[in-house]
Amino acid sequence: MEKQTFYITTPIYYPNDKLHIGHAYTTVAADAMARYKRLRGYDVMFLTGTDEHGQKIQNRAHEAGKEPMIFLDEIIEWIQNLWHQLDVSYDDFIRTTEQRHTRVVAELFERLVDQGDIYLGDYEGWYCTPCESFWTERELRDGKCPECGRDVQYVKEDSYFFRMSQYVDRLLAYYEEHPEFIQPESRKNEMINNFIKPGLLDLCVSRTSFDWGIHVPRSPEHVVYVWLDALTNYITAIGYGSDDPGLQAKFARYWPADVQLVGKEIVRFHTIYWPIILMALGLPLPKKVFGHGWFLMKDGKMSKSKGNVIDPFWLVERYGSDAVRYFLLREVPFGQDGVFTPEGLVERLNYDLANDFGNLIHRSAAMMNRFNEGTVGKPGTFAVADEAMASLSAQTLQEVEQHMDEMQFSMALVDIWKLVRQVNKYIDDAAPWTLAKVGNRERLGTVLYVMAASIRVVSILVAPFMPKASAAIYKQFDFALEEQTWQSLGNFRALHAGGRVAAGTPLFPRLDMAAELEILANLAAGAQGSNANKMNAGGAGAVQQTEAVQQTEAVQQTEAAQQTEKVQQTVAVQQTVEGQEQIGIDVFGQVVLRVGQVRSVEKVEKADKLLKLQIDLGTEVRQVVSGIAQYYTPESLVGQKVVVVTNLKPVRLRGVDSNGMILAASQEGMLKVVTVPEDMPNGAVVK
Ligand code: MSP
Repeated sequence: MEKQTFYITTPIYYPNDKLHIGHAYTTVAADAMARYKRLRGYDVMFLTGTDEHGQKIQNRAHEAGKEPMIFLDEIIEWIQNLWHQLDVSYDDFIRTTEQRHTRVVAELFERLVDQGDIYLGDYEGWYCTPCESFWTERELRDGKCPECGRDVQYVKEDSYFFRMSQYVDRLLAYYEEHPEFIQPESRKNEMINNFIKPGLLDLCVSRTSFDWGIHVPRSPEHVVYVWLDALTNYITAIGYGSDDPGLQAKFARYWPADVQLVGKEIVRFHTIYWPIILMALGLPLPKKVFGHGWFLMKDGKMSKSKGNVIDPFWLVERYGSDAVRYFLLREVPFGQDGVFTPEGLVERLNYDLANDFGNLIHRSAAMMNRFNEGTVGKPGTFAVADEAMASLSAQTLQEVEQHMDEMQFSMALVDIWKLVRQVNKYIDDAAPWTLAKVGNRERLGTVLYVMAASIRVVSILVAPFMPKASAAIYKQFDFALEEQTWQSLGNFRALHAGGRVAAGTPLFPRLDMAAELEILANLAAGAQGSNANKMNAGGAGAVQQTEAVQQTEAVQQTEAAQQTEKVQQTVAVQQTVEGQEQIGIDVFGQVVLRVGQVRSVEKVEKADKLLKLQIDLGTEVRQVVSGIAQYYTPESLVGQKVVVVTNLKPVRLRGVDSNGMILAASQEGMLKVVTVPEDMPNGAVVK
């Protein structure tokens, strides 16, 4: 059977400057959707690209002292590299300066003049160069551009116009018959009330005051004004107007687009002008235009002039592409505006990725290695708790599908994380370490199997969002190819028993909040060094991720060794300043605390402050390095029952591995380890 097609587009971005995370937001969302549809078996066409004509580009090239094409080639390389770093799997990248586009635009312009849709008139009014928009006197706000608030110029020149007004009735009828065309629904009313009802003006589609654009064949002093040029990229890229039969077939195959993603400020162009242009060309209209909200900074929209732009390259370098993708799509409900805060970013990375997700994978693989010779385990009969995991997986699948079909990425991630947390809870309750200790091999086999089967489900569900982590888990757990498909998700037991599992390293490092906040504050203030600011930043994503992880670990090690108390105080102060001093019980619940008994203690060589403790946690003995040597002699601690944070990412301190942290109270030069009554068993949970 022939595959169903799915054509998705992003806006084509202006390459007058480097892109920021706002642009990355749209592209990553489109990519997650494209990957999701591919996994579901669709023949996907995912298009992005650049909008390269217009006065703004001409001016920028001039300022840079470069020929426009040379200026553009450099930025396009940077943009494509950015998409590569972010694992954006576009199928085509259209540049409006390409011949496949320019030739067709010139032709269709002529045709639209011939059929009377475009006429030559006089333009007189106000023009905003940064927005490439014309405004009437009454549309200006305090004499400035109503869109960006900048100065506008009065222009008077011969221009071609598109007779938009004559299509208004057909357009409204289309809205009526296709209620899903404009999403979210509220944007439709905005279009009707703000732009159509007051009377739709004809659109100016040519200019004579600059010449960086597609020249109108019948009067070459005119260049096609940018929106007619820009919008038609969605059809020229897939072969519209081509003589090549292969490309003609391609166009027939993919058009009309299934979803066109745009930011809310250009919904107007995509749901009024674009459908009308298509009607004039006798082409079907896209099935859906989704106008998502903006990613804002605390002081409003990101802009270079405000100096509040967050560079996506830098974020990817430091945190890795999966983490950035996860954050962008999880943080804000798609459609609404959201504010980028460094705290929000670090919290998501620490809690959702390091604690919940990364820890699930790491501890599970570790247990399979420790208790089952590095294999998944053979399941016996499923108990109630095992069946519950299987049905939660099935339910999660349904919810994720529903939310993805509604383009509710953040909700889909909430669904997946409910499952992730539940698997962690299942492990805590089933306690494989106890099953191993008492030699209950059959039950142990079942529990380890259920853990791996749940991880398999999670690894496929996260694939559209975090392709690297997903692939890494497939590899680590050695899932067979048929176990990696969306289709296989319907069967919890599709996982073969007995597969090999590598111990692996944690997928996501835990970050030091205070250190990251400082770094991110400098970044927003424009103080970032690194590749991020340079053109042609190269390098493989994986290598850069490793560097980011190493840097983070280095920060963690020094901080942890010398400044635990100081860092904690700084975090507390910063959180109060940010009004976030209160946390929910769910956040607190992410810290796993257990009772442990100190078996032996040694000093760490050449480190005055550090002691190395071996702590019995009931199921295992953990080595923990603690900065308490100035307060305790090694002997005085032996036998003490202490509280251990057991789900901290391991670190190396002065060359010694530390796998956890013991709690201590401290004030003004005094420090006491928190102890627990002797009759409390080792391994007991502290809550
Ligand atoms: N070239 C036009 C689009 C032509 S489409 C036929 C254009 N380019 S742009 O470079 O300004 O990109 C605008 C798009 O970038 C927005 O519609 C949105 O998709 C994305 N974003 C830019 N800043 C954004 C935020 N701060 N937040 C979310 N998305 C943002 O307009």
